[in-house]
Amino acid sequence: MAKELALPARGVVSKVSVAKKLPKRTEAFVVPVFKDPEGGAEAIYEPSGLFDKETEKFIANALATLKVSGEHGEITKIPMPKKAGVDIVVSLGLGDRNKLSGEQVRRAAGLVARGLVGVEKVATTLGDFGLGPAVEGVILGGYTYRGLQTSEIEAAKAPVAEIVFIGANKQECEAASIRAESVVLARDFVNTPSSHLYPETYAELAADVAKQFGVKVEILDDAALRKDGFGGIIAVGQGSARKPRLVRLSYAPRKAAKQVALVGKGVTFDTGGISIKPSANMDHMISDMGGSAAVIATVIAAARLQLPVAVTATVPMAENMPGSEAYRPGDVITHYGGKTTEILNTDAEGRLILADAIARACEDNPDYLIEVSTLTGAQLVALGTRTTGVMGSDDFRDRIAAAGRSVGEEAWAMPIPEELASAMKSPVADLRNLTPDRFGGMLSAGYFLSEFVSEGVEWAHMDIAGPAFNTESTYGYTPTRATGVPVRTLLSVLAEIGAEA
Ligand code: BES
Ligand code: MN
Ligand code: ZN
Repeated sequence: MAKELALPARGVVSKVSVAKKLPKRTEAFVVPVFKDPEGGAEAIYEPSGLFDKETEKFIANALATLKVSGEHGEITKIPMPKKAGVDIVVSLGLGDRNKLSGEQVRRAAGLVARGLVGVEKVATTLGDFGLGPAVEGVILGGYTYRGLQTSEIEAAKAPVAEIVFIGANKQECEAASIRAESVVLARDFVNTPSSHLYPETYAELAADVAKQFGVKVEILDDAALRKDGFGGIIAVGQGSARKPRLVRLSYAPRKAAKQVALVGKGVTFDTGGISIKPSANMDHMISDMGGSAAVIATVIAAARLQLPVAVTATVPMAENMPGSEAYRPGDVITHYGGKTTEILNTDAEGRLILADAIARACEDNPDYLIEVSTLTGAQLVALGTRTTGVMGSDDFRDRIAAAGRSVGEEAWAMPIPEELASAMKSPVADLRNLTPDRFGGMLSAGYFLSEFVSEGVEWAHMDIAGPAFNTESTYGYTPTRATGVPVRTLLSVLAEIGAEA
């Protein structure tokens, strides 16, 4: 990123570069090894060609002595003789060579950035087995967020300072770095506490970084939202002293044949409002703007990557608080575009601000609309913590779910059953924001949103309630807290749509 973003804190990541041969002062060289396809106990090591014969033999012998197997994720450090030119060689197990996927490379790469703590400079040939995933894996896996801790970062916790990909293509490396940095941007937004990130500051921060990369910005404040009839955003935001915003970010390259609308939920904190949440784990609700962070990061990445597709992100931002002016159960609100909703529970707030944003996004007549939100606890019940639920137009929904799986962001298609149409009718408004029963809550939220998508727009809703925020422990290249899901899925779909025309 060119200019330092004015967030109170950012995650630390490894710097990535390319070189033809082993750079001076390389401390560690990471060499990929595989399991023996014949079932033997010893890993398959192929000389890198970067060392002399004697050193290569030393490495091979050490691997045998240490009984290195090549199991995926196995890391073995070999201290090297002075004349080798590196302090240690690190063997990195990639598992079965014929089963190797991009995701296996990404996960192994993540272990390198995080596993070689305190090391300044690492070189590797891992990029030979998938440069994109390797670069993404080291940047995402090394990501370390310390928030507002005031002590110095301990060397024992810092990711590798620089990772050099030997023999790698510079352009490919740069594109992968941009993809990963965009995930990092989304993570940084999500990790920022709501004391620092609220609609006004969030809108300004997003605008700052968007402008740096030539993305057009429009911000509507609460007065403008009221005037233009954004009743969902106003209602959800009115219980907080921090007033809501609607941010629109547009990237429009000259040669674009297709137009994609992105919409993301930007609830900067969700107390539930008058239908207040229990206090246990309520702090996780700083992540209730994860969908917005992903779409903001994606439109900026599209501009940086110069993708041949027009992208506009429409992002409603509000803080859901139970203040004296808060909206109430029983209220009826009028959305942007005129539809009305009866409020049964103020904790089903995401769909209300998204309804306004989707209606606004559809006025641009996009070819596709993708909406992303931490929308329901029911997503976690149905699909667990790591798998995004995808609803929407049949073909496009399936395409998005498949794209997610192809980049290692697990996703699964879910239906919007027809009986929900009557279940979500209200006696006093066009819709109500809940069904009377507690079943299929992820799907009824999807149905509610579908009511605001214009006829003829291919659309998808991604419920990332679980996948956006990792409350368990680190795995692969996924840290605790913000994950940055589904930025890489969105970028992969945009690249595909760009290639369509
Ligand atoms: N932000 C929550 C959903 C959520 C829950 C995200 C857990 C991440 C982790 C959303 O606004 C919400 O409160 N949804 C309610 C809807 C219900 C009242 C119909 C829920 O899922 O309980
Ligand atoms: Mn809620
Ligand atoms: Zn919410």
